[in-house]
Amino acid sequence: MDADARYSALFLEVYGTLPRAGPGGDEHTLRALELVPGSSPRTVLDLGCGPGAQTLALASALPQADIVAVDVLESMVAEAGRRIADAGVGERVEAVAGDMIAPPVKPGSQDLIWCEGAIYNVGVTEALTGWRPLLRLGGTVVFSEVVWLVAAPPGEALAWWTAEYPPMSDRAGVEARIAAASYRTIGSFVLPASGWWDEYYAPMQGRVADLRARLSDDPVALEVAAQAEAEIDIFRRYSECYSYEFFVVQPTC
Ligand SMILES: C[S@@+](CC[C@H](N)C(=O)[O-])C[C@H]1O[C@@H](n2cnc3c(N)ncnc32)[C@H](O)[C@@H]1O
Repeated sequence: MDADARYSALFLEVYGTLPRAGPGGDEHTLRALELVPGSSPRTVLDLGCGPGAQTLALASALPQADIVAVDVLESMVAEAGRRIADAGVGERVEAVAGDMIAPPVKPGSQDLIWCEGAIYNVGVTEALTGWRPLLRLGGTVVFSEVVWLVAAPPGEALAWWTAEYPPMSDRAGVEARIAAASYRTIGSFVLPASGWWDEYYAPMQGRVADLRARLSDDPVALEVAAQAEAEIDIFRRYSECYSYEFFVVQPTC
């Protein structure tokens, strides 16, 4: 295995085995779901589903819904599939491999498109524009996106995030990208810091400690560990400056 493949494998060992593959929690998924207007959704797409935590929260809150969860990584799809089977909801919830910009559903078929902590892979305007034809009349998109919470972020945090995710903006910047796709915002809220720790950074710290103990003389493993620790450290020191924000949006026409 070359160094790149090994980095990816170790990266997945740290990030791909967490309860969630990004900040969040069932209570926040359900809070966002409560903001969705109209009758209970019957067809749901969960895009960039990762290991499927929010897929199962949605499945449990929407017992009448058929849900298709999509992720580009086979290992994520496999983990989501295992959790779906364990939860006993496999007759109406499935995880499939695919690209979130071209999910395997018919045009005009979806009441709800969900994209928790994953829309950054495509871009807000690009994703919303691409998903528009998949929505039923009155359909809704819910997504979360990382935002600055302060007008002048500290230089260290700004530098770290600008390197990680150049399009990062404040709430107004996301609103502008929503409007550019001809959608309007129905509701929004900021994920509290606990949503980053409980199911994401706290278990990640355990994975990193394990990696360091097991592969203490492996430079690739140490690089993966250092990257995760740097991310956690930035959040520990600047968590009041940024977070994910949920946006519940509908097309304007
Ligand atoms: C930060 S994780 C969030 C996963 C999950 N929603 C959660 O919160 O646990 C982002 C996910 O998007 C997936 N992803 C990246 N690009 C994608 C694409 N083009 N289509 C589908 N999934 C994608 C990644 O494999 C990863 O599982």
